[in-house]
Amino acid sequence: MESDPFLLLDAPAKINLGLEVLRRRPDGYHDINTLFAAIDLFDRITLRPRKDSAILCTVPSHPRLETDPANLCVRAANLLRERAGRDVEGLDIRLEKHIPIGAGLGGGSSDAAAVLRGAARLWGMDLQAKSGEWTELASRLGSDVPFFLLGGMALGTSRGEVLAPVDLSLPFHLLLLLPGIHVATPWAYKSVGRTGERPASDLIASLRNGIADPSMLRGSLVNDFEAPVFAAHPLLGELKERLYRAGALYASMSGSGSTLFGLFHDRKEALHAASAFKNIRSVVARFLPAV
Ligand code: C5P
Repeated sequence: MESDPFLLLDAPAKINLGLEVLRRRPDGYHDINTLFAAIDLFDRITLRPRKDSAILCTVPSHPRLETDPANLCVRAANLLRERAGRDVEGLDIRLEKHIPIGAGLGGGSSDAAAVLRGAARLWGMDLQAKSGEWTELASRLGSDVPFFLLGGMALGTSRGEVLAPVDLSLPFHLLLLLPGIHVATPWAYKSVGRTGERPASDLIASLRNGIADPSMLRGSLVNDFEAPVFAAHPLLGELKERLYRAGALYASMSGSGSTLFGLFHDRKEALHAASAFKNIRSVVARFLPAV
């Protein structure tokens, strides 16, 4: 007997290495300058074609997400179906969340990118990963979604959707601290309070120097969200300091928070540092190569 076809997809998280909010734009977004880096913490998505045309999502750990209009998996599938311009079968999307929500790790954006890629395969759509059409579609779902079609590491500019792959391998191990504080991205952008313009720095040069001498990263990579987010949640600033005290070569918040990460030379050091954070969820991770 033939079993039902299904697709299993891994949707990785990302961190930002440097995040500069350059200016506020007339469309309400901000131009940014950031390095996105995919890491090996994954949501798992199963896609199954349905006999009818419904697009349904189940999220066992977060049932409220299932019918939330902000559920990017459902929005991604609907957007792609519109683009197909013909009748395609419906989809059952099962989302197993491991990446915390509202944590600056891009989980929802990554889920959306995975659904776009997977549904395109099931529906026999030929959207090339690097074509402008694909990026345009992804950026309609969110500024971070195009990065997840690329993976690996990339310099993100404009509102984050203009991407240049960065071919550097980062020899570090990561310790992520996930303090369970939800930071709303629109609030964080507003709180940066960018009225004028901030110069963009050469993040790739900083990273290259940092690979040779990680102590240099501390002075050269900045996340502009830290000041306002730490002011609202002092625990996060304290955790960053504690990462340094625990031996991190470089520590920062990712995205608009609340995740903090530290870079370490090896896994043993990262695990040892984790033992200093008893009441905070922590994850040891690595950077992922491009897909
Ligand atoms: O693109 P996305 O839907 O993820 O953005 C959510 C919100 O974050 C936007 O509505 C905007 O307020 C803010 N944002 C911004 N500049 C960016 C990205 C997001 O101001 N580059």
